[in-house]
Amino acid sequence: MAARSERQLDAVIVGGGVIGLACAWRAAEAGLDVVVLEREAPGAGASNVAAGMLAPVGEASWGEERLLELTMRSHELWPEFARELAGAAGRDVGYADIGSLHLALDRDEAAELHRRFELMQSLALDAEWLRPRACRELEPGVSPSCVAGVHAPHESAVDPRALTAALVAACKASGVRIATGEATGLLLEDERVTGIRTAAGERLSARSVVVAAGSWSAAEWLPDAARPPVRPVKGQILTLAGRATEPVCERIVVTERIYVVPRSDGRLMIGATVEEQGFDTSVTAGGVYELLREAYRVLPETAELELVETLAGLRPTTPDNLPLVGPGAIDGLLLATGHFRNGILLAPLTAERIAAALAQRSAEVVAR
Ligand code: GLY
Repeated sequence: MAARSERQLDAVIVGGGVIGLACAWRAAEAGLDVVVLEREAPGAGASNVAAGMLAPVGEASWGEERLLELTMRSHELWPEFARELAGAAGRDVGYADIGSLHLALDRDEAAELHRRFELMQSLALDAEWLRPRACRELEPGVSPSCVAGVHAPHESAVDPRALTAALVAACKASGVRIATGEATGLLLEDERVTGIRTAAGERLSARSVVVAAGSWSAAEWLPDAARPPVRPVKGQILTLAGRATEPVCERIVVTERIYVVPRSDGRLMIGATVEEQGFDTSVTAGGVYELLREAYRVLPETAELELVETLAGLRPTTPDNLPLVGPGAIDGLLLATGHFRNGILLAPLTAERIAAALAQRSAEVVAR
């Protein structure tokens, strides 16, 4: 017979990426008893591949006002979230307020960038149109063929690997158990979630189960009707090693096709392709070529740097690009998934909302 954990947890969180860990940490801080179930290693999915842009202005798009409200709100939470997390974990999370510079390198790109700038203005976002000289004053490494730019001074960035390590440390310090294993089924009583079954035969009894499994959230272990509509969208990304003392750029640099995110140690993250390839995570010659070509076009000095890593990750994507954060289709099932291009950015807001929902549910179950 399968082993059953006697202790009734407040929550099992399935998925140990930045979203799952942030939810667990905030829930534990609120006094809840939480286990994170991660099938590989913490952050092994999209969190390990993400560039860590915290850039709601740059990611704003037509018809996505609701998403923008969420990303702007979470962006406001980030400085305090990073400060508290660094304190709880006793380590840096690589958060930096560096701003972003969007660049056009020919007339067509300038026309497209101007349409994007008009959208930013219509949404009252903090962004300024710049002439080429002003772009090169901000970032001297930018190509002389730059014809226009948009500066968004309040965008920021975080190092997702440092963030994952900090979240693991903070989770452990606040009593969260991070278990390695796979979920294989929900435990249900009277159509209410009572826990989870794992591949190792363990039965974890819990008042709530949170699905935070990124692109793997539409999992077979969930009943059909409870599977969230999440699909993977592949992104390939590169890391170049530069010198911290002679940075190629100091801000996030964005063109129509790529973004470049500098780290304080001189590394540059160059991302990312957007591909509907299912669960394929292969790195292709075409993907790498496209990213390197575009990086060279906007920041010619990138040609001198060493290419140290190539990776592909899977963005958990929903039909309307909005994240799924809140109650699922069964009483006691919660969703924290579907964050598409904004998982790292939306982590503080998601964690706040999930921790509040878990606390409320535990109080209700105890009162029954
Ligand atoms: N947030 C950037 C990306 O998903 O590529």
